Amino acid sequence: MEKTFLMVKPDGVQRALIGEIVSRFEKKGFQLVGAKLMSISKELAETHYGEHKERPFFGDLVDFITSGPVFAMVWQGENVVALARQMMGATNPKDGTPGTIRGDYSLAVNRNVIHGSDSNESAEREIGLFFKDEELVEYSKLM
Ligand code: CMP
Repeated sequence: MEKTFLMVKPDGVQRALIGEIVSRFEKKGFQLVGAKLMSISKELAETHYGEHKERPFFGDLVDFITSGPVFAMVWQGENVVALARQMMGATNPKDGTPGTIRGDYSLAVNRNVIHGSDSNESAEREIGLFFKDEELVEYSKLM
């Protein structure tokens, strides 16, 4: 089953948006297979955002993502990587379509509430960075 990594960022946690965000993915029909409220170390932040290392905003990005708790999640379902990206909306909320999470809840690219893997390869890498295999559950096939 296809899986993706999603994370409510410190701004989303602080603004009490965890429930709303989880609810959107549940109602869509995806299954939550792992979740934890956690603080990110500088090392984990730098690894997770490694592809942005040369960008001028890299330092701010790492400072921000380590500034408060995040809610890290693994979701599964058909086409979940691409559909979760659609539900999140554009990276820059000023281009964000209303009805998407960023379009509805944020105004700034550096405070855009949620992160989601951009490909199956990224999903595998990011899930591995944040979760151990035994932290992910399997759902009953009887229901
Ligand atoms: P995310 O999907 O978590 O992946 C990388 C993040 O970098 C992105 O969301 C934005 O929050 C952040 N980002 C992108 N562009 C900028 C920018 N110009 N200034 C600050 N942060 C940015």
